[in-house]
Amino acid sequence: MTRFFLYYFCILIVRFCRMIIHFFRYIVSRTNPRSYFVEPIDGDYNFLSSPLKTFNRIMSDDVVPSFDWFVDVGCGEGLVGVFVALFKRKRVMLHDHQVYLARVVRWLSWGLLIPRVMVSTRMCDAYPSKSVFFCVWTSWSLRNRQRVVDKLASVFPNDSMIVSVTHPVDHESFILVKKMDYLFAWGSANVYYYKHA
Ligand SMILES: C[S@@+](CC[C@H](N)C(=O)[O-])C[C@H]1O[C@@H](n2cnc3c(N)ncnc32)[C@H](O)[C@@H]1O
Repeated sequence: MTRFFLYYFCILIVRFCRMIIHFFRYIVSRTNPRSYFVEPIDGDYNFLSSPLKTFNRIMSDDVVPSFDWFVDVGCGEGLVGVFVALFKRKRVMLHDHQVYLARVVRWLSWGLLIPRVMVSTRMCDAYPSKSVFFCVWTSWSLRNRQRVVDKLASVFPNDSMIVSVTHPVDHESFILVKKMDYLFAWGSANVYYYKHA
């Protein structure tokens, strides 16, 4: 519990520092000297976290099998993964294509001695059996999602599950087991549970 709150506290500090750095970088490089509006974050780079209460309910569904590994594809600030590592005591693999986010999650988990956490910017070429893949790709572009679905299809172990938020996974390698509706910070969203075909 203490380590989770410390992790959360450090993430808040990182967010604050990032905001300050971005503000000064923006002041220096803005094209219109009379405007302080910043370009909106691209959907593929938005890193809003899933509410932990919602996440807990999603993972408590009967259809989720007992698992050894939790894989967050697009982990953002890693809060969900760290929660699983500390409270569910499972091994977690966190991926985010934003190098800076992957570094923050890796360094904080090392620094706070959070066990069972692995972080990488790219997906692996193989995953252990009994894994649950969690994909919160609400804002991702279709192209980005399709690339990750294709990759998932080639590395997905037989006895594993995909939990997909907002978008269904259209691929013959996966069978839809259940569809639910949950409340996220950005409103309600469909949650799809898939197993191997
Ligand atoms: C909304 S956040 C999800 C945060 C986290 N999964 C959660 O539920 O709290 C989406 C993250 O996906 C990452 N992302 C987008 N495309 C990706 C890709 N192709 N591979 C890995 N990460 C990706 C973004 O950088 C962003 O941090």
